[in-house]
Amino acid sequence: MSLLLVTDLDNTLVGDDDGTAKLNQWLSDAREQVYLAYSTGRSYDSARHLMAERSLLEPDYWITAVGTEIYTQKSLDPTWAKQLSTDWDRKAVASMAEGFKALERQPEPDQGRWKVSFYLENLAEAPALEDLQAQLNTAGLSAQVIFSGSRDVDIVPAAGNKGNATTYLREHLSIKPEETLVCGDSGNDISLYQQQERGVIVGNALPELLSWYEQQGQPHHYLARATYAWGILEGLAYFQFLRHL
Ligand code: GLC
Ligand code: MG
Repeated sequence: MSLLLVTDLDNTLVGDDDGTAKLNQWLSDAREQVYLAYSTGRSYDSARHLMAERSLLEPDYWITAVGTEIYTQKSLDPTWAKQLSTDWDRKAVASMAEGFKALERQPEPDQGRWKVSFYLENLAEAPALEDLQAQLNTAGLSAQVIFSGSRDVDIVPAAGNKGNATTYLREHLSIKPEETLVCGDSGNDISLYQQQERGVIVGNALPELLSWYEQQGQPHHYLARATYAWGILEGLAYFQFLRHL
């Protein structure tokens, strides 16, 4: 049996160094049977930087910029890039979002070819995000607004989130959903749980993901008690991956 492990970085794999080290140890032992993919809101460069800083293992795949880019080692997957470019009008999307006073643009390194990112200055302004999504739809722009950590606002192509990128990768590898575990803690991870893959939500998950789980969680999802990478290990045990690998 093999396993595709797709994990978010900040506050999931990374957050408790002892937990990360323990998971790294298990992964190193099972490395032959595991396809490892990191799935993050960060850019590829920023994610690699974090990998070095926190002694993470080199993964087989990177799903970066909230699922808009997939890298196999250092090269961008051209098929995924082409798929997302269809119907993506970055300029029009950015200028519509810039019209919203509640949003402040994130720094340039956080902008991507298929990702326009802002900060929501004040949580009380959150309803503006629904207005933005409605305006994008009305204008016929194929884009989705993703809100994470009560502050980060990412606008990406409708087809390009972490969940869709994971399914694309899984199908490419011919791995079954029941041999795949997705792991996350925040709003940009919700799409990971909207597919058929097994999913663990770490114990330190943020309210936006917890409330999604309360309302829409499925039997193939598991809310761990343990936090950060310890929660991933708890999920691996719950779905019996620890025993079978
Ligand atoms: C990372 C990215 C940021 C994004 C956030 C949530 O922090 O750097 O651009 O908004 O993840 O997806
Ligand atoms: Mg996270």
